[in-house]
This record gives sequence, C-alpha cells and structure tokens, in this order.
Amino acid sequence: MKLKVNNPRLIQSNPYIGGKFLGINGGDSFLVHNPFDNEAIAEVGNCGTKEAELAIKAANDALDTWKSLTGIERSTILHRWYELILRNEDDLARILTLEQGKPFEEAKGEIRYGASFIEWFAEEAKRVYGDTIPGHQQNKRIIVLKQPVGVVAAITPWNFPNAMITRKVAPALAAGCTIVVKPSELTPLSALAIAVLADEAGIPPGVLNVVTTDRAAEVGKVLTSSALVKKISFTGSTPVGKLLLEQCAQTVKKASMELGGNAPFIVFDDADIDAAIEGAVASKYRNAGQTCVCANRFFVQQGVYDEFSHKLVEAIKKLKVGNGMEAGVAIGPLIEEKAVKLVEDLVKDAGEKGGEIMYGGKRLDASTDSLLYEPTVITKATSGMKVFSQEIFGPVAPIFSFETEEEVIQLANDTTAGLAAYFYGSNHSRIWKVAEALEYGMVGINTGMISTTVAPFGGVKESGYGREGSKYGIEDYLNIKYLCWEI
Ligand code: SIN
Repeated sequence: MKLKVNNPRLIQSNPYIGGKFLGINGGDSFLVHNPFDNEAIAEVGNCGTKEAELAIKAANDALDTWKSLTGIERSTILHRWYELILRNEDDLARILTLEQGKPFEEAKGEIRYGASFIEWFAEEAKRVYGDTIPGHQQNKRIIVLKQPVGVVAAITPWNFPNAMITRKVAPALAAGCTIVVKPSELTPLSALAIAVLADEAGIPPGVLNVVTTDRAAEVGKVLTSSALVKKISFTGSTPVGKLLLEQCAQTVKKASMELGGNAPFIVFDDADIDAAIEGAVASKYRNAGQTCVCANRFFVQQGVYDEFSHKLVEAIKKLKVGNGMEAGVAIGPLIEEKAVKLVEDLVKDAGEKGGEIMYGGKRLDASTDSLLYEPTVITKATSGMKVFSQEIFGPVAPIFSFETEEEVIQLANDTTAGLAAYFYGSNHSRIWKVAEALEYGMVGINTGMISTTVAPFGGVKESGYGREGSKYGIEDYLNIKYLCWEI
C-alpha cells in the first residue's frame, strides 16, 4: 500500500459487507493506479457473484431494523457520519487525489460537497411527510404514506469517487433503505474510506455495503437481476445506463439514471464577456473536463466570437497542469489512457474538418504516455465534427459561432442528451425565453457552476431520469402507499 494518511484506518483494501472488511476467498484482487504517474497504489479485493449476493443478503437482513428506526434516530447517525467525514477531510481528499488525479484543493471541495448531501438528507430523514386526502365518499378517509423502497443498489463513477456515492447513499439511508454500492474499479479507495467512517458513526452492519470489483458486468448483472434489490441508482455513461435498464426490466425495478451530457454553453452579444470567461473556465476545465455537466459545445454569437475566443485562451494559459498533489495545479491527469485516446481522436477529427486549434491540442509531454492533456481551445467548430455530438470528457473547448437566438436554440437542442446547459446574456425577456426553450434538466444563467446539494440534479431525454439532492432527492427512495379507510 503506497498511501500515507493521518488516519491509517481509512485505507482499506477489502470490500465492506455486513459491517466487515472481508477478505476474498482465493485472494482475487485488482490494482488501483495513480493516474498521474501510473504507480500502483493499492491492491483491492475483487468481488464476484458470490460476494455481490452476500452484500445483497446483508442489506436485506439489515432492512427491517433500519427502516423501523425513527427518522430522528437515522438523522442522528447520519449527522455523526457527516461530522466524521469533515474531521477526516484532508485524508479523504488525499486518497481521492491519489486514485483519481484531481487537484488536492478540488478534491477537498468534493469531500465537502459529498458531505453536504449527508447533512442535507440527515435533515430530510425527519420530514418524510405523507398526506391526507378528502375522501370520495362520506364514510371513507384517505391517507398517503411514504415508505422506504427497500434494498437499493448504487453503481457509481470514478469522476466523483466520494460525492456520487454520498448523493445516493444519504437519501437512501435517510428514507430507511439499505444499500449496496459498487464503486468504479478505478477509484474504490474513497468508497472504502467513507465506509470506515460510516461504521464509526454507528451505521449498523449491512445497512451500507461496498462491493469492490473490476468485474463490473458480472456484479452489475447480480445487482440488477436480484429480486431482493428494489431500486438501482446509476451514474455513468448512457450506453451502460441503457443496458442496466434492460436488465432491471426483468424484476421491474425502480431506477434512477444520471447519464451522459452534451452541455451547450451559449454566449450572446450582450453578455458580460469577462463573467462568461470565468464561467467557461469553471464549467469546462473543472476536474480536467471530466464531469457530466461540463460545457461541451461553446456557441458564441458572431459579434463577440473573437473577443471570447482570445480571452478564453488567455485565461487557460494560466491553468497549471500537473500532479494534483502539487500546490497550484489546476488540471490533473485524465483518468486513464483510453480517456486520452478518446480526446485525441476528437481533437484530430475537429482539426481534419477545418477546426483551428488556438491553444493546446495535445498531451502535455507528447513524447511520453503521461495522462496530462493540455487545456485546449478549438475555433471554427462546426456541427459535422464529432465534438458536436459526443461527450468530450476532457479539457477541450470547441467554439461554434451563431447569428440568431432561434438558430442557437435549435443547435443547442440538437442532441439526444439533456443534462445541463448554460447561457450568458443580459436581456431579461430573452433570458426567460431561452431558459424555457432549452431541453435540459438544469440551466445555468450567467453562471458556469450549478451543482449544489439544495437543487435537483438530473437530466431529461437520454441523460436519464430521477433527481439527486434537494427536497426531491429522497422521493426516488420512497414508495407511495395509500390507505382507504371505511369508518
Ligand atoms: C457528474 O459529473 O455526474 C456530477 C457533477 C456534479 O455533481 O457537479
């Protein structure tokens, strides 16, 4: 184990099932690498069908006791977990940077963002209100109850190894559900570290289970086909989401899907260009461009096209690319070689179709196999390029130009994705019209940062369904039951 932290208990290498970090029979394991230098930093237990089934059973066994606690009791335990996470934030951020690559300060931001879901849903645990409905006959009374759906399975991505877990686990536990989490094989250490703190907070054995594996298809199949699992929550790519949904159909599971995006970032002539640049940098280059809500296509109105492009280049020249553990680094490595190859392919395609690479456009040190990729700006982008329809998931900003509001709305909506969209402008009547016309679940207006615990995160179209965070986030983990009472 090459990880050094103040609280060594946070470093675990085995799956957490039924309240224990269990060794795998036969010792099957996989390696976790630091994407900055490809060094193997941990060897982690590799679960298969047997361990996934064990975790589901543990969650099912723990369900009755957990759901029969009062909301206030569950809230108290969740609050303790929240406090422990904040107390260990430096260690958790260090683990996160080492396995995922994002800069340490950004990782700390993610730990706080992740913890905020636990705090929020600890409060919501007390407020799962039902309803009374005036009866339809004089002798009938109608009461609506909300009850936990039961055992939940969460399949979570590598780009937010902490927050995408807490965003699912916290509402599930608050609602009275128990859960099995399958984190990405690229970043399992953050998941195990927060399981240690869950245990310390008093979350009972079996309520939270973490199944580490690099056999995602095998374990995913067990989770989606088990009749004991009543709901799947998935964050990841659209093709994998579709496959999971097909598998869930057999047991008619509830599902929440937070899938890929293709966010437009529109800049109108009357926008505050400096503010738009600030928003563009935050939205595009955060996490090296590896978020589902990153701006993917910049649409800039003709009158400000040159000014915006030049200013964006000046801004990204200041972003230091390197080891996330080094002070001042703003962009860490991409997660793996496959990710760099994908970005290289998109940039090459744009170049071949008339795009002009104004800045960047290659690995930081092109002679090595480093996963560091230069922040990049491509002008003269057109809708025939792959970057128009494909999620880039890297620090590359293609800039398209447009003339009219109608044209840009049509371009922005010309995608199967519908997660996040952004636009900058100052005309109020246009702001309303554009906000209403964009076919997206989330719209940033004069801001590039929209993610927060208090607002409903989620998409429309092929970006999925269900909402995470906010007062709506707990609903996905509750069933509605109505009582019709004849008196
Ligand atoms: C994501 O990329 O899926 C989540 C991004 C966020 O919460 O900001």
